[in-house]
Amino acid sequence: MLKRLFQSKGKADSREAARSSVDKKSVPEHVAIIMDGNRRWATEHGLPRVAGHHTGMNNVREITMAADRLGVHVLTLYAFSTENWKRPKDEVDYLMGLPQEFFPKMIGELEEKNVQVRMMGHRELLPEQTLQTVEEAVKRTEKNSGLVLNFAFNYGGRKEILHSVQKLMEDAAAGTVRADQLDESMFRQYLLSGDLPDPDLLIRTSGEIRLSNFMLWQLAYAELWFTEVFWPDFTEVHFQRAILDYQKRVRRYGGL
Ligand code: FPP
Repeated sequence: MLKRLFQSKGKADSREAARSSVDKKSVPEHVAIIMDGNRRWATEHGLPRVAGHHTGMNNVREITMAADRLGVHVLTLYAFSTENWKRPKDEVDYLMGLPQEFFPKMIGELEEKNVQVRMMGHRELLPEQTLQTVEEAVKRTEKNSGLVLNFAFNYGGRKEILHSVQKLMEDAAAGTVRADQLDESMFRQYLLSGDLPDPDLLIRTSGEIRLSNFMLWQLAYAELWFTEVFWPDFTEVHFQRAILDYQKRVRRYGGL
């Protein structure tokens, strides 16, 4: 018991030490994370793959609180992609059920920490109950002014762009916009990310080095950071390392 107490104090100390080396003045405003490796984590632990998703869901809490402590303003998490529907039905059903476990358990803490929950994704195909749970959390926290916790849920970057172009064409046909008015700042208003700033830093766990149809427009100038660590094992200390690396980068946006 005493040994465990010392171990957890040791972990807290190392988190604290790493946090204090992060320069609070240049923390990325928006961090986006591709939470990958849940199933491989489960296989490594001899568990059914849904156990990986469950542990991954619990880690959402840890990393949300870490983002808040570090001073990140927006945390976008890729929780379910438009391509994930191709997975076995039992796995999809399980993933669709996670919000019903996560939000009732977490909403009190999210409210207490002034976190604003958002959803970035397509409503179609989502089970009624899942959508209702997420929308309830969004509604309950909409006036909060702290960290924005943005769930990319039933999200696909290409679909988002097509959908935006469709809406734009409808507005053009209705005469509310003209082709010569279109610029980047106008187009971004049609995207699902709406008024959120573009991610400054993209983190992907589990050793895969690709974007997988995630925020294709918004990630144009993001700094990319990859780690071999599976999402359920990704801790605040890994998060701090990503931020420390980010702070060493020189962002040129194609200039200089
Ligand atoms: C990718 O790992 C992960 C997912 C498709 C699901 C991610 C979802 C969570 C972490 C929980 C989200 C929480 C809420 C509240 C919605 P993978 O399954 O592709 O793993 P693999 O790469 O090892 O196969």
